[in-house]
Amino acid sequence: MSTFPKNFLWGGAMSACQAEGAWDVDGKSLTFPEIVKRIKPEERTTTKQVKVTEDVVKAGVTGPVEDYPKRWGIDFYHTYKEDVKLMEEMGFSTLRVSIPIARIFPDLTNLAPNENALKHYDEMLDYVRSCGMEPLVTMSHFDPPIQVWTEYGGWSNKELIDIYFTYFKLLLDRFHGKAKYWVPFNEISAAVHAPYKGAGIVADEGHDYETRCWQAVHNQFVASARIFKYAHENYPELAMGCMTAISSRYAYTCKPEDVFTCDRYMEMNNYIFLDVLSKGSYPYYAWKFFTNNNYDINITEEELQEIKEGTADWIGFSYYQSGCIAKDETGIPVTAGNLKKGLKNPYLSTSNEWGWQADPLGLRIVVDRLYDRYNKPLFILENGIGRVENLETDHTVHDQYRIDFLRAHLKELKDSINVDGCDVFGYTWWSPIDVVSSATSEMAKRYGFIYVDQDDDGNGSKERYRKDSFFFYKEVIKTSGEDL
Ligand code: BG6
Repeated sequence: MSTFPKNFLWGGAMSACQAEGAWDVDGKSLTFPEIVKRIKPEERTTTKQVKVTEDVVKAGVTGPVEDYPKRWGIDFYHTYKEDVKLMEEMGFSTLRVSIPIARIFPDLTNLAPNENALKHYDEMLDYVRSCGMEPLVTMSHFDPPIQVWTEYGGWSNKELIDIYFTYFKLLLDRFHGKAKYWVPFNEISAAVHAPYKGAGIVADEGHDYETRCWQAVHNQFVASARIFKYAHENYPELAMGCMTAISSRYAYTCKPEDVFTCDRYMEMNNYIFLDVLSKGSYPYYAWKFFTNNNYDINITEEELQEIKEGTADWIGFSYYQSGCIAKDETGIPVTAGNLKKGLKNPYLSTSNEWGWQADPLGLRIVVDRLYDRYNKPLFILENGIGRVENLETDHTVHDQYRIDFLRAHLKELKDSINVDGCDVFGYTWWSPIDVVSSATSEMAKRYGFIYVDQDDDGNGSKERYRKDSFFFYKEVIKTSGEDL
């Protein structure tokens, strides 16, 4: 029976803003995720992204802590040792964590590093290593400080390129000996698909808003390229990755119009981000897209040169589900998905309370396409299934659906590697432990192998318990996925 490659990195992915809590500890400043209230259960399948307006920001800055679940998260800032220990028990060889700029530079207008926060991450990364895991660090995971908006008007402001580069550089200079794998921006596509969390831009609509979002993406491309180049010149032993959220789409029918629409969608919603960061230049279709939509993006010759000189060593992406798309979508049922809604696929079933349609073969399709397109090693940085679930009286959680989801996706991934010949070097499950949902701020959307006894309001014992999937993943890792 075949296995995954020797040295394949097995682990889990999490983010500081959904797990750490401790929102005001050690001088940390307030961030966008910490002003997002949870949605009501009846909004689960209809919500695209929570709308963060100017009023929401104002209310959030002064609002009561108990309205904002990401302020307490699962208290990972204080419980990381206990939590990482459980991941060690599963046999993880990597753990993807993020570091928030709001802790390291509490004031973006005065870049004085916060030594207490740096010390915390010194200790945390050391601890992760001591548990046999190679840390993989996301430098910016959906956590722009509120100041990004109030002082700079969001990432469309080029001043943030220098500010974030200073921050990225500080992280590498300080922690290069403690973590080998780095990603500048989580799901960089979020700057246009969920601008408040991707780019610190509050909700608006219209041409100017869309232009600002694309400008924000461009600015993040430049910041990424600059840190890639810096790492290559100063720390060649590091492996620098880029990342986007893959919103995979199939044409709803085989009508050529639908196929054409689907191809265009895939370009501007998925490939553009990896094309620029991996190949070092804008693809032809992006220039056309900007011109055809009259998006007047400020892109200088010097920046294009920077983008050319700093490219990613490997391609990272998240994949949760697929969806469909048609030229004329009138009357076709729509459902929610990660970052974006899509047309329901009549050939797939609904796999969670949020309407997401799992598609394991879709992962193989994506891996094969990305490997063909970039010919660089791939890393599945996020894949998982969030469900509403209950702790039994004997402290077990019988999450057979999660085991089925994981098994099916890993089978396809293994075939991408062993049958199709793609170079994939790691897989980090989102999330090894229950955390607060990014899109909806619900604790009830549980992804973990480890159950956290805490409800949407932050009540509960906070104890951690192993779900059935914990033991399944442990066995998968032990046997290198031989018996799936
Ligand atoms: C990705 C993010 O978009 O999807 C994670 O990188 C997030 O931060 C994950 O948690 C799942 O999304 P959600 O909204 O279900 O938590």
